[in-house]
Parts: sequence; C-alpha cells; structure tokens
Amino acid sequence: MAVLLNIAMLFPFIVKSAAESGVPKINPFHFSGELDVGMRASVQCAVIYGDPPFEFSWFKDGHKLIDNRGVSTRNIDDFTSNLVISKVEADSNGNYTCRASNSKGFDEKFATLSVKDDGTPKITPFHFPGELTVGMRTSVLCAVIYGHPPFDFTWLKDGHKLSEARSTSVKNIDDFTSNLVISKVDADSNGNYTCRASNSKGLDEKSALLSVKELGNPKINPFHFSGELDVGMRASVHCAVIYGDVPFEFMWFKDGQPLIDTRGISFRKTDEYNSNLVISKVDADSNGNYTCRVTNLKGSDEKSAVLSVKGILYE
Ligand SMILES: *[C@@H]1O[C@H](CO)[C@@H](O)[C@H](O)[C@H]1NC(C)=O
Ligand SMILES: *[C@@H]1O[C@H](CO)[C@@H](O)[C@H](O)[C@H]1NC(C)=O
Ligand SMILES: *[C@@H]1O[C@H](CO)[C@@H](O)[C@H](O)[C@H]1NC(C)=O
Repeated sequence: MAVLLNIAMLFPFIVKSAAESGVPKINPFHFSGELDVGMRASVQCAVIYGDPPFEFSWFKDGHKLIDNRGVSTRNIDDFTSNLVISKVEADSNGNYTCRASNSKGFDEKFATLSVKDDGTPKITPFHFPGELTVGMRTSVLCAVIYGHPPFDFTWLKDGHKLSEARSTSVKNIDDFTSNLVISKVDADSNGNYTCRASNSKGLDEKSALLSVKELGNPKINPFHFSGELDVGMRASVHCAVIYGDVPFEFMWFKDGQPLIDTRGISFRKTDEYNSNLVISKVDADSNGNYTCRVTNLKGSDEKSAVLSVKGILYE
C-alpha cells in the first residue's frame, strides 16, 4: 500500500487514469492454510478501485459456482462479495476465482483452497534396525496416524507386491496398524519395503530399506601339538577363531570321528571365539589327527594337527 501511495504521488496521472477508466480492481484474498475437514472457510472479494455497480461471480476450477448445500456467496455491500463454505471437505479443494465486473470491464482474483486433513491416510515413517545379521528376526509397524478407517494395507518389496514366503508374514494388528515380520532375515531379505495404506479418500505410503549385514565365514588359526610329548605328558591345543561373526559352534574330531569328552580328554569353550582341547596324559592311543571345526550361520572352517607321542610313530 505504501508503494502504491508513493507511486500515486510520483505519477498521479497514472493512478488517475486507471481510476478514471473505472475498471474494477479486486484486493487479493487467501484461504487459511490451517483448514481441516469440517472447518468453515470464508473469503472476501473486495473491490478497491472502480465504479459501482459491480456484478460479482464466483468460479471453482473454472466452473461457475452455484450456491448449494454448504457453499454460499453473498454480497455484503456494493463493493464486497463473501464466499462461505460452511464445512470444508476433500471435495472443497480447488481454485476459487472471484470476478467483479462493471460497465467498464472486469477484474479477477483467485485463491487456492487446500484442506489440511481431507481424511486421506497418513503413515508414520518406519525403519528397520541397522544391525541386522543373517538369521535375525525383524519386524516393522505401519501405523496410520491420520485418516478415516477402513484402510487397506498393502506391502511392497522393491515395488512389487510382497509375497508371504516362509519367513515373511504380514498381520493387521488393528484397524490402523499393519505389522510386517521377517522371522529369519537373509541376503534375499535385502530390499526397499513399502507400506501402502488406502481408504476411500486416497492413500499414503512410506518405505524403508532393509540391509542385512554380511556375515563373515569363520577362520581358524592353525594349531600344533608339541613335538616333545612323552607318554604321561599333558597335551593342549587351542582352536581360536580369528575371523567371522558370532555365534560359533565348535566341534572336535579325532581321525574324522567326533571326539567325546571322556576321562583324560576334554574340550571346553573358553569364550565365544576359543575352544581348548586337553589330553591330560598322553599315551599310544592318543596318537592321531585332531580336527577342530567351527561353524556359524555363514559357513565353517576346520584345522587339523597331528599328535605323535615321542618314540611311538603315528600310523
Ligand atoms: C486458478 O484459476 C485461475 C483463473 O482461472 C488461473 O489463472 C490459475 O492458473 C489457477 N491456478 C491454479 C493453481 O490452478
Ligand atoms: C523405495 O521405494 C519408494 C517407493 O517406491 C521410493 O519412493 C523410494 O525412493 C525408494 N527408496 C530407495 C532408497 O530406493
Ligand atoms: C587330518 O585330517 C584332516 C581333515 O580330515 C585332513 O584334511 C588332513 O589331511 C589330515 N592330516 C593328516 C596328516 O592325516
């Protein structure tokens, strides 16, 4: 307005000629940006220049607006027309134009009405845990926080409808929540998972990436029995995992046969990465090829060592 006044002072003839031409000028108007379903919307189309009488007409998306249930237009005075939508809904969204015309011409201004919550679903974002390794169970919730039930839930993986495989299942917990469960993740589980919730008004979808951490195959450090074992001595070897992801399972073999913990021979997991084999008193029967096998969810490794009591040849 200040600018207009300044221009009017500098160039009075321009304003004068515009005013004199008598063509209407409408003040811009706007709808509130905070309109929720059920609220009342009202805008005023006010002529600020021009000679009455004016004729006002209203358009929605280019079509003449007809007073009907809930929508009314009314001239407040010679210069002002008022549009009222008593209860906005999704259908109210649109571009509303006011036209004011007189004998000299017309002006138009428009405003866009956009209902904040038109009843379409809104889903809260969800995420998979970042530290998923093969074999773990994971689960995400797709929860609708806005919108009117009933909702249809659809799960997609990389854009394709998710097929409920052996380890993948979907369950609707309540009217607003769908639960995706993968009971054992593996490399095939990797992907972009999308939950789509729709109702009669529209749909929303949110996606999350699932990325299974690659597991390492176990690697065992080579081990050896002492070459100085005499009958009656104590032999001990250490099966140490130097690479791979827990949990590990340790197994011991002698000449290919699973070793049994007996009097005189014992093996023991000392921690998650180590197992210790002890033969408390070696004798001729102790000679053999001892193997430690370590297995995890990814694979296995084994290392062997020959025990040969001094003076008693192996084989
Ligand atoms: C709204 O309607 C006016 C007048 O018909 C048009 O000029 C304008 O581009 C429309 N705006 C939108 C956002 O549709
Ligand atoms: C996941 O899928 C959604 C929906 O198709 C897409 O919008 C999004 O960009 C995808 N995200 C990634 C990281 O690929
Ligand atoms: C010991 O057993 C392992 C595994 O069965 C085998 O690969 C290796 O050749 C054997 N060593 C000897 C010296 O027999």
